[in-house]
Amino acid sequence: MTELLKLSGVSKHYEPHIKAVDNVSLSIQEGEFVAIHGPSGSGKTTLLNIMAGIERPDRGEIFLDGVEPKGIQDWSRIRSRHMGFVFQAFNLLPTLTALENIEIRMYGIVKGSSERERRALDLLQKVGLEHRADHKPSELSGGECQRIAIARALANRPKLILADEPTGNLDSKTSDKILELLTTLHRSRQITLIVVTHEKEIASRASRVLSYVDGKIISDTKGNP
Ligand SMILES: Nc1ncnc2c1ncn2[C@@H]1O[C@H](COP(=O)(O)OP(=O)(O)O)[C@@H](O)[C@H]1O
Ligand SMILES: [Mg+2]
Repeated sequence: MTELLKLSGVSKHYEPHIKAVDNVSLSIQEGEFVAIHGPSGSGKTTLLNIMAGIERPDRGEIFLDGVEPKGIQDWSRIRSRHMGFVFQAFNLLPTLTALENIEIRMYGIVKGSSERERRALDLLQKVGLEHRADHKPSELSGGECQRIAIARALANRPKLILADEPTGNLDSKTSDKILELLTTLHRSRQITLIVVTHEKEIASRASRVLSYVDGKIISDTKGNP
């Protein structure tokens, strides 16, 4: 197995008493589906943001493919080329159509507008929304928005997808469908998937579950293969 992401002694405190990430060391292998499960306020979003280089830790090192990214530009390149993001609130641009929300991720990375459009249409089809290509987020349901956000996350064929409470704004039936989609993508494309959540249902689908409380991993268990 190849190590994709490594955290070594990583800490991030907000004011002395809020330990969002408290001396966390962690190794994630390529192809894993890791759920980071813990209560609200335990520091999950902060940990995920540190993994993506969006927030810098106070202490510790992060390695991707064995290399420590250096500086903002390095992180920005890694994020745009090798990572996809899925958020609780979808974070689609409201003035753009579904298709354009996916295409925009590829600017500067995939050459040619026709190739970007072809890829975006293909991804819309993969998430079952090709018939919604010209719709704006306000004309779509929450579940549809999240499927478009997942298509967007896949746009540059990332090796890693980071999802922060991806079903937090969805009803339980829609949540199931989104989880099914993420699980299928993880299996069929061997994408490494890290999902932070306070919901048990997501954790039960993961190949590895980290329980996260007050900035610490308190257990690390194998789940579904
Ligand atoms: N930028 C910030 N400044 C100060 N405190 C913060 C900041 N971001 C998060 N926190 C605090 O850190 C703790 C962990 O937050 P967060 O990582 O969002 O947890 P979770 O995602 O598990 O709900 C919370 O107490 C939160 O209020
Ligand atoms: Mg959070």
